[in-house]
Amino acid sequence: MRRTIDWDGDAVTIIDQTALPTDYRILRLRTVDELIDAIRRLAVRGAPALGAAGALGVVLASREGGDPRVSAARVAQARPTAVNLSWGVARALKKLDEGADAVLAEALEILDEDERLNRAASAHAADIVLGLCDRRPLRLLSHCNAGHLATVAWGSALGVVWHLHERGLVESVLVDETRPLLQGARLTAWELAQAGVPYRVQPDGAAAAAMARGLVDCVLVGADRIAANGDVANKIGTYGLAIAAHHHGVPVVVVAPSSTVDGSLATGAEIAIEEREPDELRTFMGTRIAPPDADVFNPAFDVTPAGLIAAVVTEDGRYRPA
Ligand code: MRU
Repeated sequence: MRRTIDWDGDAVTIIDQTALPTDYRILRLRTVDELIDAIRRLAVRGAPALGAAGALGVVLASREGGDPRVSAARVAQARPTAVNLSWGVARALKKLDEGADAVLAEALEILDEDERLNRAASAHAADIVLGLCDRRPLRLLSHCNAGHLATVAWGSALGVVWHLHERGLVESVLVDETRPLLQGARLTAWELAQAGVPYRVQPDGAAAAAMARGLVDCVLVGADRIAANGDVANKIGTYGLAIAAHHHGVPVVVVAPSSTVDGSLATGAEIAIEEREPDELRTFMGTRIAPPDADVFNPAFDVTPAGLIAAVVTEDGRYRPA
């Protein structure tokens, strides 16, 4: 599969994640404003992919008129929760004094690194999952999309599924649809279908019932920001999943590149949680499903305390709070 996000010599190219699974189309983003709009609309999304977007945003900023640092700051602030976005911006900005070519080289290095690090993190996590779960083949549960589409390539939590599937160790994956934007039903299910991994989509509300019926051996999720103590911000619903999993003795394994660890935050309570437009909940695929003026609580992420997580895994292996 082509990279989720890339540079074609003149523009940032992305697989448009608002169009899948119906349409597979590539967008070319030529300006900082187009990139910011794509980030806000979730045409490009997922923490590691946002890290690449941040670095490529500095590339675009360094080629436009005006102060590139001002434009870069706007890219970094396009979404608040995934630390990878500001991490990617900061890393590319460090090269600004060396010129636009140096910024581009750094951004391309981040793109190359991404697949390598996610493959390593998910390989470590696959071994940890095999150590935590006795049953073979495994029945896994996925929330949101932490696959190829959430990274430059390969994936983090779904990368574990790819490793285990290669070894014939996956029976099936239960895919939380992941309301309100359906990253599970639209994107994770599409990736699993492409890879020939058996899966079933379920409403988010069915996850606890699936665990109660003994249908889940392990919950696998990615992360948007990991605090120093191991608390994890991830797609809304992850916290509820982890509570249910704890109740049923099902391990929760979090997989992310180390760029998702934010050592400057002591605990998850300090993580900024993005709140999104009310109409994302008042409508469903363009159809109004709630009164037009209904008040809405629409946080895009929640924080799962470290105590509910069996292992947080990066390319360096199991993350252990200092
Ligand atoms: O709002 P999104 O789709 O950007 O949220 C993405 C997630 O919550 C993912 O689980 C997370 O970024 C990890 S992706 C490897």
